[in-house]
Amino acid sequence: MPALAADELAPGDMRRVTFDDLDVLVAWASDGIVAIDDRCPHMSAPLSLGKLDGCLVDCPLHSGQFDLATGRATRMPTTGGLDAEGEYHPVWSPPGKEPKPDPPGIKAEARRFTRVRRIRYYPVRITDGQIEVAIPRE
Ligand code: FES
Repeated sequence: MPALAADELAPGDMRRVTFDDLDVLVAWASDGIVAIDDRCPHMSAPLSLGKLDGCLVDCPLHSGQFDLATGRATRMPTTGGLDAEGEYHPVWSPPGKEPKPDPPGIKAEARRFTRVRRIRYYPVRITDGQIEVAIPRE
């Protein structure tokens, strides 16, 4: 599917492109152009509103950071929770401060069991001046 004209994207740019109900992030990272879901692998915030530095994209919601070259989280979200392998990470605390205790209750339990997923990629090609993204068909 045509996503956008190639000259609409410069190195370091990120754009959201929507195909029906699928929001795709097209990014020109330092390793090349990549298309992924425009949903943070943590709680689905739009990564297109974040910051791209090389291959690392920062999520605007809980400061998670993801490597577009590997699909891995390079910084866990401040809420803590489970990483893609299922390992638990505590709620972030400022350096030099006591670790924040998880408050009791259903919200803390939900946070503990919220897992960062791996990034889902879509194949990309540039043809006739268009960046095309292969999205799954129903
Ligand atoms: S939604 Fe992105 S880090 Fe939480």
